[in-house]
Amino acid sequence: MPIPTSHTAIATTSLRTLSAITVPTPIPSATEILIHVLWTASTPLDLHQNDSGLLVKYPHILGDGIAGTVVSIGENVQRVEVGDTVFGFSWLKQEGKAHQEFAVVEEWMVGVIPEGFSMQQAVTLPNNFVTVFHTLTADLGFETPWPKPENFVPQNEQDLILVWGGASSVGQYAIQILRYYGYGKIIAVASARHHEILRSYGATYTLDYNDTDIEAQIQTLGEVKFVMDCIGSATGSVLPISKVVKAGAKVAILLPVIVRDSGEDVQPVYGMDVENVDGVSWEEGVEVRGVRTHFYHHNEFFKEHLQPDIMPAMLKEGIVEPNKQKIIEGSTLLERAEKAMGALRRKEARGERLVWRVADE
Ligand SMILES: NC(=O)c1ccc[n+]([C@@H]2O[C@H](COP(=O)([O-])OP(=O)(O)OC[C@H]3O[C@@H](n4cnc5c(N)ncnc54)[C@H](OP(=O)(O)O)[C@@H]3O)[C@@H](O)[C@H]2O)c1
Repeated sequence: MPIPTSHTAIATTSLRTLSAITVPTPIPSATEILIHVLWTASTPLDLHQNDSGLLVKYPHILGDGIAGTVVSIGENVQRVEVGDTVFGFSWLKQEGKAHQEFAVVEEWMVGVIPEGFSMQQAVTLPNNFVTVFHTLTADLGFETPWPKPENFVPQNEQDLILVWGGASSVGQYAIQILRYYGYGKIIAVASARHHEILRSYGATYTLDYNDTDIEAQIQTLGEVKFVMDCIGSATGSVLPISKVVKAGAKVAILLPVIVRDSGEDVQPVYGMDVENVDGVSWEEGVEVRGVRTHFYHHNEFFKEHLQPDIMPAMLKEGIVEPNKQKIIEGSTLLERAEKAMGALRRKEARGERLVWRVADE
């Protein structure tokens, strides 16, 4: 296809304001690829950034989940060809962000979408698939060998692992990946309507966070050794988790800590310090960490293999099923982006990902 010299991108340009801006279409460096971005998925980070300016320098192009077609490659690119349909998590620079018609990214930030899967399905994976591997290894200290040796049994096979927010996109991938590595005692905390699917993904126990005695219910299952808090809500997850874990437990909380959630007329408040959340006290000896997926590539093995090899293989082999999608329609790119932002604010994605078209084919 002819590559333009400029294209349209969706940026947050001031608090709670999205705009369509025109940006130069970059030429890939030797190790980069240029992607015609056809589909993206909105994530809570888009909302955090648009509504609170979190880690934003205006104008700031949003989005980190890409699915599209490779239209140009640098001279040293080896694993991807022009015409390939790829998916990837890309966040390092503005030119690589997802909510724009063309994005330039390093080759290691994508995988080829396996046959039989649509871009809409595939684009639900990248950021949260990567988040799960990063959290399990860097924050909880688990091993996730790839390829997985035959008869692999994880060291903590019989330890109770709590996945709080099992219905979130991260939670769904976490449960499926934990099952694959052989963890046998997974508690998923989610609304009751998601319990059946979460059990089919590998949850051993399913509990509902809307129950007032949720902490007691968790405690009756035994001593929780590991926690993945996929929500990071000060009162909605961090506080109840702090009441059930004991010395020796490891808790990984997905940042930011949401002190006050964004709403139509509510200005959000976020925190980045998981050890000092107002109203929360941790028993001495509990190890609490804030997850920062944006550093996952410091693990050289993951940089080389997580998105290019492991992610497409796990999708192809059915080890992970994509999140369900809620397709956001609209006649322009800006309209779709704004509708997706509104849906995030109103929390319309329950057990599903908000997915929308970026460029026309
Ligand atoms: N720091 C990092 O590196 C990093 C990386 C990825 C994501 N994150 C953060 O992780 C969070 C989750 O992201 P996501 O994309 O997975 O979210 P998501 O899919 O949009 O999560 C939506 C789900 O959250 C559940 N939920 C809401 N409040 C809950 C509560 N108090 N307890 C249990 N479940 C609750 C709802 O479940 P029900 O339908 O059951 O009510 C809903 O289905 C976001 O804040 C995101 O920014 C951080």
